[in-house]
Amino acid sequence: MSINLKEPVLLKRIGRLKNPASVEEYINLGGFEGVRKAIEMGRERILEEVDIANLRGRGGAAYPAGRKWKHLYGVDETPKYIVCNADEGEPGTFKDKMLLGQDPLSIIEGMLIAGYLFESREGFIYVRGEYRAIQKLFQEAIDNAQAAGYLGVNIMGIDGFDYTITIVSGAGAYVCGENSALLNSVEGKTGRPRVKPPHLAEVGLYLKPTLVNNVESFACITAILNIGGKAFLDLGAADGGGTKLVSVSGHAKNRGVFEVPLGTPFHDILYSDEYGGGTSTGRPIKFLHLGGQSGPLAFPEQLDGLYSYQGLWDKDLAVGSGAVVVMDDSVSVVEYSKKVMEFFVHEACGKCPPCRIGNVRIVELLENFVKGAAKEGDIERLDSMLTHVIGLSACGLGKASGVAVQSAIKYRRAEFEAGIKRA
Ligand SMILES: Cc1cc2nc3c(=O)[nH]c(=O)nc-3n(C[C@H](O)[C@H](O)[C@H](O)COP(=O)(O)O)c2cc1C
Ligand code: SF4
Repeated sequence: MSINLKEPVLLKRIGRLKNPASVEEYINLGGFEGVRKAIEMGRERILEEVDIANLRGRGGAAYPAGRKWKHLYGVDETPKYIVCNADEGEPGTFKDKMLLGQDPLSIIEGMLIAGYLFESREGFIYVRGEYRAIQKLFQEAIDNAQAAGYLGVNIMGIDGFDYTITIVSGAGAYVCGENSALLNSVEGKTGRPRVKPPHLAEVGLYLKPTLVNNVESFACITAILNIGGKAFLDLGAADGGGTKLVSVSGHAKNRGVFEVPLGTPFHDILYSDEYGGGTSTGRPIKFLHLGGQSGPLAFPEQLDGLYSYQGLWDKDLAVGSGAVVVMDDSVSVVEYSKKVMEFFVHEACGKCPPCRIGNVRIVELLENFVKGAAKEGDIERLDSMLTHVIGLSACGLGKASGVAVQSAIKYRRAEFEAGIKRA
């Protein structure tokens, strides 16, 4: 795994801790300074700093953390729960794994800052089931933090500052990364998404006000309180502050997690030796898949801008989870599209018909394109079915399932036309 930033902010301790769960080592490298400063500045200022930082949620939806935090702060009901989403189910996304496994206390610190701000007594971290070894390490970090007075009762000597963190293991369902399905799963129920509204800030875990943020988002919170909201904002772009962890994979020459200032030219991420370094095969990049399976495909003509939230939206693209899967010109866009839809069929929870049934029909149609047996009008039929599934599905899984294939049709229609059987 490579890191490329003169002074990394999120990855600054990666590779420098002999035991990533050690509180002593963490403190020696600046750990727990963020929570200390947060307590000194007081609750209203914490909210202001998060707002000024213009941190967009790093789990994929890019929702401004400042807005989410202010909403929850304004809710009177108690208790409030803090939940860290460490499900990391998006294919091609493996940046949370690096933080969880190599700097777990930075996430615990971010959750602790939230616990202090919202006067919450209980936090939960929902960790992808496949990260078994990391769960063990994270538990060790929790135990060490508790022994050192950073979790438990009267934290840091403050009367009544009581807060615990409990690990809950996922069981391999992609849909459980969706925040309301995740809360159901934490409660021991089937991991199916809830109908929203109500907002989770009002009716969340055990029907109580709840904050759900991604692992990287909590690591950003620790950094924001450490360096200040304005300094964090200035690291990135006006439409989204800070640095972003980008997971580069596929045919990229340099695969790994890179900490990239938001607003970096996209070309640099793909081609510079510090980042992706072109392709491992020496063949040209044909397309990318951005932000996991839920994101759009990106083609070379869309890549001349900046890697920032607005920069990508302007090009019909999205940062999403920060996944950048590189595909060279040996890969068929149509076959790739079918694989994407097979993933969504496999992962659908089955609650609503558009996603449960519609995506099965879409895979059947795509199979015809792959075999060169599609009929005249099938591209329009495919596009219309995708629009219906996106528009009518009950949760984010279905709503995002057709995004990649719609972008493929829009930008590489000729490849689909080649799959039509002409008389
Ligand atoms: C099907 C689906 C899967 C998701 N998987 C994840 C995930 O693995 N990790 C994550 O942080 N967010 C995931 N999300 C997004 C969460 O619902 C939610 O937006 C996020 O946890 C909020 O945190 P953030 O604002 O810090 O990004 C998923 C959403 C959907 C619809
Ligand atoms: S869109 Fe898919 S995953 Fe979401 S509720 Fe409907 S069937 Fe379940």
